[in-house]
Amino acid sequence: MGFPATRMRRLRRTATLRGMVRETRLAAEQLVLPLFACPGEGVARAVGSMPGVYQHSVDRLVAAAAEAFAAGVRGVLLFGLPERKDAEGSAAWDDDGIVQRALRALAREMPDLVKIADLCFCEYTDHGHCGVLRPPGNTEVDNDATLANLARQAVSLAKAGADVIAPSDMMDGRVAAVRAALDAAGQSEVPILSYAIKFASGFYGPFREAAESAPSFGDRRAYQMDPANGREAMREAALDVEEGADILMVKPALPYLDLLAGLRRRFDLPLAAYHVSGEYAMLKAAAERGWLDYDRVLMESLVAIRRAGADLIMTYGAVDAARLLAAGWRE
Ligand code: PBG
Repeated sequence: MGFPATRMRRLRRTATLRGMVRETRLAAEQLVLPLFACPGEGVARAVGSMPGVYQHSVDRLVAAAAEAFAAGVRGVLLFGLPERKDAEGSAAWDDDGIVQRALRALAREMPDLVKIADLCFCEYTDHGHCGVLRPPGNTEVDNDATLANLARQAVSLAKAGADVIAPSDMMDGRVAAVRAALDAAGQSEVPILSYAIKFASGFYGPFREAAESAPSFGDRRAYQMDPANGREAMREAALDVEEGADILMVKPALPYLDLLAGLRRRFDLPLAAYHVSGEYAMLKAAAERGWLDYDRVLMESLVAIRRAGADLIMTYGAVDAARLLAAGWRE
């Protein structure tokens, strides 16, 4: 060979050298911990398919958030298990609803914590769909009727102290509707983190146990996206940007890193990715059998999500990852 052989391994020889040339970093402040608020006091009910995840009454939820904050996590994403469900999901916009109460308690005890409120109806409707059904058949979710309710839910959550509103329902036009409602209610400072690209995914299975939100009939394919569609995902994101989204999210994360990278190239907004319940459950289940090293695969997953373009990551492993980082974790 008449030229010096390229040696990729030169910069991999020592941990310090690898650290110097590492392209992507993960920090605890980029992680957001999802939490589930339920009625009662002193309740911490374990979710079977998600070891380490609980349904928390407000008092225990505040304690869990404080623990996460102490570990370095700066944000929580709140879901609610209401006392009552009805056809419309009206508990979602009750100013004394479960998430509203959790927000007020967190605002009081932890003003520096970033409190992100999920906006959707599947936890609140008795049929488990993400909006109101269209009569007379009641087999389809009515887009525009749902927008009006999302707007009410958003205003109620913002008034209760949500720092960010995160619509996950996948109705068309919801970002514009929620933005207009927030502005009209004097909440123009509250940003919208849109679940812009959300697929009809089997990876949400464990979440539906945690949030008690499985649909009682059918599925969500008429509003969530087809996993086969990447160009459509870019159109979804472009619409949300036009409508005024402040942060765009991709969900689930690992099976859709190509789309996260696509968003990173096209838009300059901050990007989020949701490392969802099934992605977490897979790691935990394999680790329980001794088939995978949980710490390693969690950190590898999160770094990969960052590398693809995410600024923030919603993950049930947020506290574990933050503690590993604080203990000096490096690949
Ligand atoms: C509500 C919502 C879901 C998730 C977040 N918000 C469930 C769904 O769409 O069925 C899933 C999160 C996870 O799996 O961790 N619509």
